[in-house]
Amino acid sequence: MANTIKRIAVFTSGGDAPGMNAAIRAVVRTCSYHNLHVYGIYHGYDGMIDGEIVRLESRDVGNIIHRGGTILKTARSERFRTVEGRQSAYESLMAYEIDALIAIGGDGTFTGAKIFQKEHKIPCIGIPGTIDNDLFGTDYTIGFDTAVNTAIEAVDKIRDTADSHNRLFFVEVMGRKAGFIALNTGIGSGAGGILIPESKSDVDQLMFHLRKMAKRKKLFNLVIVAEGNENGTAHEISKIVKQNSDEYEPKVTVIGHLQRGGSPTALDRLIASQMGYYAVLALIEGKSGIMIGIQNHQPSYIKLDDAIKRVKKPEADLIEMANVLSI
Ligand code: F6P
Repeated sequence: MANTIKRIAVFTSGGDAPGMNAAIRAVVRTCSYHNLHVYGIYHGYDGMIDGEIVRLESRDVGNIIHRGGTILKTARSERFRTVEGRQSAYESLMAYEIDALIAIGGDGTFTGAKIFQKEHKIPCIGIPGTIDNDLFGTDYTIGFDTAVNTAIEAVDKIRDTADSHNRLFFVEVMGRKAGFIALNTGIGSGAGGILIPESKSDVDQLMFHLRKMAKRKKLFNLVIVAEGNENGTAHEISKIVKQNSDEYEPKVTVIGHLQRGGSPTALDRLIASQMGYYAVLALIEGKSGIMIGIQNHQPSYIKLDDAIKRVKKPEADLIEMANVLSI
């Protein structure tokens, strides 16, 4: 099919994630290679509405592959949720004769792209950029691997002090509605317990498990808590534990936004580069309304609707393994 796309705009939206810059770089350089004009939109959908649009050349994305955050900045836009906001955004794009979009972000970003494509008939491709790894159709989202590595590094440090004092620590990690970060952090840091939204485990069960471990002379313990788990925040869970037993003086660490920053890992740089590259090729081939994922190291093409609506769950085997290894 003859390529009708001449001007592509790329933007990042929602929570930033390490590796987004590598994806931007890949989009810009692949466009340059194929003689397509490429524009960067600053501050996500808000910037689209406000016309914060800048032409990017290959050299503009030099020296960014190793940097966390996003050079294009990001935002969670309320205005883009309205018909008027999207109409203004469309007018901004038309002023630059932009005929296709590459949106890097999570489910909120893709929901906006899907509606916008339908309303204004502008082809959109999504690149999964969120530390949460909660999008269906891809093994990894950009930023997840870095976030897990950062969290593990933090937990290793907490382990030293937990061990020295024989203390119980609750460490809260991000993952709005998903337990991927908590599960991988828990396995990678050898935690005694992991609380995630996808696997029901209440505080009583956790205490039973911890006591069993204490009997086996495991004197300190680390419990990784996903922020979206149904028992509450790490602070709330710690309070319940304190109220219900004298044997623990639990401590709490919330890793928070630390895990969203920093230089991306090799894996994040690699998948972000692949996703940016294949996103441009997909537009050239006439594809639209899809997310570019990576499955078994190969690109996958998933309808935006499926990426948003179908639920990705941690593998049951992995959860089982985490339980077995924590005894
Ligand atoms: O979606 C990524 C994420 O980091 C979630 O894990 C977290 O719940 C949320 O963003 C926090 O968002 P904000 O930085 O806007 O408070």
